[in-house]
Amino acid sequence: MIIQKTESSRLSSFDKNNFNFGDTFVDHMIICEYEDGKWGDVKLMPYGPLQFSPANMTFNYGQACFEGMKAYRDANNDVFLFRPEKNFERINKSASRLAMPEIPYEVFMNGLKALVDTDRLWIPQGEGYSLYLRPLIFATSEMLKASVSYKYMFAIIATPAKAYYTKPVSVLISDYYSRAANGGVGFAKAAGNYAGAFYPTHLANQKGYDQIIWTDDATHSYFEESGTMNVFVRIEDTIYTPPTSERILDGVTRDSFIQLAKKNGIEVVVDKIPVETVVKAHKEGKLKEVWGVGTAVVTSRFEAIGYNDEKLMLPEISDEDSFAIKLKHELVGIQSNQAEDPFGWRIKVEKGFTDSLAK
Ligand code: COI
Repeated sequence: MIIQKTESSRLSSFDKNNFNFGDTFVDHMIICEYEDGKWGDVKLMPYGPLQFSPANMTFNYGQACFEGMKAYRDANNDVFLFRPEKNFERINKSASRLAMPEIPYEVFMNGLKALVDTDRLWIPQGEGYSLYLRPLIFATSEMLKASVSYKYMFAIIATPAKAYYTKPVSVLISDYYSRAANGGVGFAKAAGNYAGAFYPTHLANQKGYDQIIWTDDATHSYFEESGTMNVFVRIEDTIYTPPTSERILDGVTRDSFIQLAKKNGIEVVVDKIPVETVVKAHKEGKLKEVWGVGTAVVTSRFEAIGYNDEKLMLPEISDEDSFAIKLKHELVGIQSNQAEDPFGWRIKVEKGFTDSLAK
């Protein structure tokens, strides 16, 4: 690894009580470039802008995908990643679907660990805090022919994160717009999936809703995802989540929730969720909770669901009685080294890891 550390850290000007998610970046970033059919050296360097021509293929044809993952720091300054292999597998699935080269395991893992080790003091300590890591791959050829790029960049940047979306949100069931279709890129963390969701979300915001529940594109009658998250529905004491598919992202938080719920003896049904079933359960007073899960927010509980011209209000449920909150606490406990890790999900990043890779 090529290591170029900053001579002017910005850490002393970072106020953990006053920042927004995604607008503050740690001192360093990881860069690795692909050219002539191979990935080059991994570089750790000061975070900063890069220069690209407007003819860059990412800007024109959108060959770009990313990952979202978190690192936590405990009271001993020990730092942990959470199930990074899952993100490694997924970024390569996304890359392949977008006709981009896969990245080697060492490039991804060493890059992540080096960044987290070097900037470990940027990870705010305390409940709800973490470091959000954003690995991404994008095209860098300067060419307007509509074809695959021959040059790419892999980068990892990182932004401190705190608990956000704390209040329950209201969501609108989509009866027209779609996030994904069979044969498309819905399962991939393709940058364009997010771009395509912004306009329908804006329309939902204008109607007073925070997010959209994405439904299947063919019939709009089954729950698929919610906002940028996977979705869970609790009817009485059983929780339901749709199976992953070519339209649904295979979320790491989703999978962790399923495993944690089962460990807690909660019945989990992974099956299609008809909108009608949710509406009927609501009418019968059996719909207890609906929530989204994702790396960034971990859990976002819903207070209302818009369907046709109706607004279904969800029952108020205490944190003690909420499966969503119970599972979130257990997950964050494991992630942040506050709880036992029976699944072996937590990966410690050794102090001095970066220097051990110096060439
Ligand atoms: C996540 O939950 O990690 C996401 O995908 C949200 C991200 C786009 C900010």
